[in-house]
Amino acid sequence: MAKPLSTLLSSTPAPPGATTAAAPSGEAMFGFLDDCHREMQRQLGLLAALARDIETDGLTPVVRARVREVQTWFNVQAREHHLDEEHNVFPALLASADDEVVQAARRLTQDHAWLETDWMEIEPSLAAAADGYTWFDPAVLRYAVEVFQQLYLDHIVLEETLAYPAARSAIPQAEIAAMGVEMARRRALRESRTVRRS
Ligand SMILES: [Fe+2]
Ligand SMILES: [Fe+2]
Repeated sequence: MAKPLSTLLSSTPAPPGATTAAAPSGEAMFGFLDDCHREMQRQLGLLAALARDIETDGLTPVVRARVREVQTWFNVQAREHHLDEEHNVFPALLASADDEVVQAARRLTQDHAWLETDWMEIEPSLAAAADGYTWFDPAVLRYAVEVFQQLYLDHIVLEETLAYPAARSAIPQAEIAAMGVEMARRRALRESRTVRRS
C-alpha cells in the first residue's frame, strides 16, 4: 500500500544545514510517485487475477467485493496519479531541450488518454460484476484487462527510466517541494470529502 504523501513529507528528516524543507520534500514527492507505481502494479495484478477468476468461477461474493475495491482504486487513485504527473512532472519534460525527453513526455501524455479509454471500456463490466450482473463477456473482459495491464506496465517503465529522472534534474527543488505540498493538500481534501459523505 502506498504511504500517504503527507506522511512522507512530514517524516523525511532535514539534511544537516538545511534552512528549508524543500530538498527532503522534493525527494518525498518522487518517493510518493514511485510508491504509487508499486501500488498500481499490485492493483493491476489483482485486476488480472479477478478477470481470470470471473471467467473460470463466476461471481462469488468474495470476487464481487474485490472487484469493487479494484474498481474504486482505478477510478480514484490511478486518475489522481495521472493528474499529478500531468500537472507536476510532464510540463518540465515538454519544455526540455532534449528531443528524446520531449517525445517521451508526449508519448506518456498520449498513454494517459489511451489508458483512460481502455478503462472506460473495462469499468462498466467491473461495475456490473460488483453488482452481481453477468451481461458482459468474461473472455472479452479478461483480454481487455491484459491489454490495459501491459500498456500500464510499459508506461511505468518509461516513466521510471526516463521521465522521472529527467524531471528530477529539470525542476528546481523548491518547486518540487511546493508540488508535493499541493499534491498532499489535494488528497487530504478528497479524503475529507469522502469521510463527510460516508
Ligand atoms: Fe503516467
Ligand atoms: Fe505514473
